[in-house]
Amino acid sequence: MARILVTGGLGYIGSHTVVELIQSGYEVVIVDNLSNSEVNVLDGIESITGVRPAFEKIDICDKSAFQACFSKHGSIDAVIHFAAYKAVGESIEKSLDYYYNNVYGLLQLLSSMRANGVKHLIFSSSCTVYGQPDKLPIDETAPRKPATSPYGNTKQMCEDIIRDAIVSYHDFTAILLRYFNPIGAHPSAKIGELPKGVPNNLVPFVTQTAAGIRKELSVFGDDYNTPDGSAIRDYIYVVDLAKAHVKAMQRLLAGSNKSELEIFNLGTGKGVSVLELVHSFMAATGVKVPYKIVGRRAGDTEEVWADSSLAEKELGWTARTPLNEVLLSAWNWEKKVRGIKE
Ligand code: NAD
Ligand code: UFG
Repeated sequence: MARILVTGGLGYIGSHTVVELIQSGYEVVIVDNLSNSEVNVLDGIESITGVRPAFEKIDICDKSAFQACFSKHGSIDAVIHFAAYKAVGESIEKSLDYYYNNVYGLLQLLSSMRANGVKHLIFSSSCTVYGQPDKLPIDETAPRKPATSPYGNTKQMCEDIIRDAIVSYHDFTAILLRYFNPIGAHPSAKIGELPKGVPNNLVPFVTQTAAGIRKELSVFGDDYNTPDGSAIRDYIYVVDLAKAHVKAMQRLLAGSNKSELEIFNLGTGKGVSVLELVHSFMAATGVKVPYKIVGRRAGDTEEVWADSSLAEKELGWTARTPLNEVLLSAWNWEKKVRGIKE
């Protein structure tokens, strides 16, 4: 049984991936400093899988603690690296925190991996590295545009650091997964997204509005050059996304990767506007979401959706879950968290 170290494994995407890894027969060691997660996520993982993975409350920037963790858990076969700060707006106000955590954290990880002979890495990148693309859908050959936020810059820098590390050190292989917009929660409603404070992202804001925690949703802009004027994104179910990590892991461990560094877009290939998403949520759940149109949000791109055909061809992966089911999962999770009974 291969042993996988998952940084940020109690976070939103990490916890769903840990479930899929365990259900695919991997042994998992989670490293998380709980800066954006709760330790009881472990209970949810255990309740779904019947397995309580090893957990180390460690900051990956703490070199000696991280190094000790590698030694303690013996032979680690590969790492999936989720641990990072991820709020675009916050990164503009706290840029140094973002560079420290995301870039220095990766450097610590790579040196610990080297010191312990761990040779395979899957890295959480983002479609944010493309900026507003010249053509849609976006495939992996699209140029990376200058980052529009320190967060986006950290993703570009981390991609470059991994690329350079592969050139420097032999026998090191990595897969960069560029996520589009992950949404939804596990169908069991035992794990999901736990945004702290007022959510920045659309779906948590929609579910909190439906739950009556927020008065109304602000739709940021209806004057984009799109069919209904609102911005378009590619919303990918977090469980589908998690399954892609298992496929990527199988590929790395089997050595069936075609180059030392591979990059895959992970999206549905379908663009959905903000207004379409809100109306789909109301149709799927039967719950009203009051909303108003306001001005555009600074830094937003008009429309982005993925060409994920490379992931389909090489990983044998596609996003399968229909949007109404995904939105229902997000609503079921919100109800569970808030103790809302039907
Ligand atoms: P999340 O905040 O829910 O999870 C990140 C986890 O990492 C948290 O549990 C946090 O406590 C932990 N963490 C952060 N810094 C750490 C450190 N220094 N040491 C140890 N643990 C640390 O975020 P998520 O949505 O699950 O995102 C996971 C990854 O995917 C991130 O790298 C993020 O940038 C990337 N990503 C996310 C999205 C998205 O929309 N959610 C989109 C594209 C890429
Ligand atoms: N939106 C609203 N109202 C809200 C929140 C969002 O109208 O209250 C709109 C946004 O303007 C945007 C769309 O909904 O048009 C999606 O916004 P999100 O904030 O959910 O997602 P983004 O596309 O802005 O960014 C997300 C993550 C980034 C990541 C990016 C690509 O927040 O970290 O996806 O992966 F880089």
